[in-house]
Amino acid sequence: MNTTKVTWTCPSNIAIVKYWGKKGNQIPCNSSLSLTLSNSFTQVEAELSAKTADDLVQLTYYFEGEINEKFGQRVAKFLIDNREFFPFLSENALTIHSSNSFPHSAGIASSASAFGAISLALLDIAYTLENKELDDEFYAKASYLARLGSGSASRSMFPGYAMWGENDKISNSSNEYAIEVKNIHPTFRNMKDAILIVEDEPKKVSSSVGHSLMNNHPYAENRFIQAIDRTSELVEILKTGNMEAFIHMCESEALTLHAMMMTSMDYYLLVKPGTITAIERLIEFRKENNIPVCFTLDAGPNVHVLYPKAFEKQVEDFIQNELSDTYKNVIYDMEGNGPKKLNN
Ligand code: DP6
Repeated sequence: MNTTKVTWTCPSNIAIVKYWGKKGNQIPCNSSLSLTLSNSFTQVEAELSAKTADDLVQLTYYFEGEINEKFGQRVAKFLIDNREFFPFLSENALTIHSSNSFPHSAGIASSASAFGAISLALLDIAYTLENKELDDEFYAKASYLARLGSGSASRSMFPGYAMWGENDKISNSSNEYAIEVKNIHPTFRNMKDAILIVEDEPKKVSSSVGHSLMNNHPYAENRFIQAIDRTSELVEILKTGNMEAFIHMCESEALTLHAMMMTSMDYYLLVKPGTITAIERLIEFRKENNIPVCFTLDAGPNVHVLYPKAFEKQVEDFIQNELSDTYKNVIYDMEGNGPKKLNN
């Protein structure tokens, strides 16, 4: 068996209840719940070789075939901070080749799938060197590590729906790692997510700056309480198959996230005219046709259109025929099965 080279893919995820605000070492101010995607993923190949320098961690990081100093430095810091989990890094150099399934300029470049895949690959090496099996604890630990790299990455470890963050009403919930949300009504199985790429420029304000603006935000406390309540409500909605309640919560969460940005002391705005037009037409389309379709947003202008697979024809025709002037590109994605280990 080759123990020094592993390859993993890890999907991105789209939050329905949003994580926005954190404290301490990547501890969320509220619980969140997301849908794991399928087609939008990062693939990471991690390979060990003999160390040639006495750096704490000797990392060479390639993104899509080229050395990427900027993200490489973030990954190196993550490895140094968490080197107790990766004892083999004291004696081995590490080369990471990372690539995304989605176009570089798609504007969805996601630290969730990247840190997810990196955490899985490195933890896999650690487990293999100790002859341990990749059991449920492996995924919980990978989620823990991924969280330390990027909060939302913690939720990418699981198929379907995952939640992260302590919540009194959800047993086994934790601030330190995410858990799978099981017991999903068939209504919410095979949900599709058409990602309308309204803008593919890098964001003006990064998520980490956005999170920090929740620290002295006038509405923060109420927002955190609301999101915690909504997480447990959403678990119930997913169990009972209440689509109307899902649509309401999903859209309200998207607008609340952006309202938090707009009402920060250092206020800013990430939505674009195309974002607003697409949302308005979508709400109209839903009303006129009585089709269960809704939108959500991440921390950017792109619109995620969510709908059950059973309605894909109507919704995708609508996206192509009536929204095409609002976006540059569409990525069709759907509920996914979580990370995968590839054979080298
Ligand atoms: C709006 O996970 O990117 O997508 O922990 O600083 O890496 P860091 O932040 P990140 O924040 C994601 C915010 C969000 C909502 C969500 O995914 O829950």
